[in-house]
Amino acid sequence: MLIAQLTDTHLKPGGRPAYGRVDTAGLLTAAVDYVNAFVPEVDAVILSGDLTDTGSAAEYAVLRPLLDRIRAPWYAVPGNHDRADEMRTAFGDVVPYVDAADFAACLIDHHPVRLIGLDSSVAGVPWGMVGAAQLAWLDRVLAAGPDRPTLVFVHHPPFETGIGHMDVQNLKDGAELIAVLRRHPQVLHLACGHVHRAIDTVLDGVAVSIAPNAAHAVTLDLTLGGPSTFTMEPPAIRLFRFTPPRLLVSHLAYPGRFDGPHPFFDATGGLID
Ligand SMILES: [Fe+2]
Ligand SMILES: [Fe+2]
Repeated sequence: MLIAQLTDTHLKPGGRPAYGRVDTAGLLTAAVDYVNAFVPEVDAVILSGDLTDTGSAAEYAVLRPLLDRIRAPWYAVPGNHDRADEMRTAFGDVVPYVDAADFAACLIDHHPVRLIGLDSSVAGVPWGMVGAAQLAWLDRVLAAGPDRPTLVFVHHPPFETGIGHMDVQNLKDGAELIAVLRRHPQVLHLACGHVHRAIDTVLDGVAVSIAPNAAHAVTLDLTLGGPSTFTMEPPAIRLFRFTPPRLLVSHLAYPGRFDGPHPFFDATGGLID
């Protein structure tokens, strides 16, 4: 099974550029084209928040037809730039959001890997929190599927990356989330967004990653008090490959055209010198 992670698409009303210069609609279209054309076929797409830039209905209206172009089933959770209530309205017919008052989580149980999307958005603030009610829900859901290999995705990462202006906006109850995930060894991975960079770590034995962005990247600046800026690095997405019973491998994939592929070996089987 292949799972593509698209994150932080930051769509603007009318498809206009984000921050005056990023063609987020065009770059998302290119990423979707790449995912659609991938061989073998991608089986599911997860979108880990910041789908729009301000969470307005007008932005979700622009985004929806772009997401409808994805051939695989797709699932989305809110980030700090989203509004959970607007996302339920815009995508509720496609994404199976749970019936909960405080959080727009989703549970997808019909793939070889069970997918659980968490809502870490908190209205009006940039940082994230899963919250006690959602953590209790997650614990119950995981307890009910101990034999189902599981990928959890959430917008805000539960760890410090070294990029200070992003770290102050990370997941405030990350330790509590990792404690729940640790109790359920069928959880293979926690996939996050928010930082617009490919970052990996292991927290208390739980593999955690942040996906890169198919549009703008947060600048890799690990200095104390570094400014909040972005850089147009090569667009990238994360691609997870699952092999039963429980191997989940993460690849970085680069939508776009590059020189190659070129052979290593010539027609006689010799390594090209
Ligand atoms: Fe973002
Ligand atoms: Fe974010």
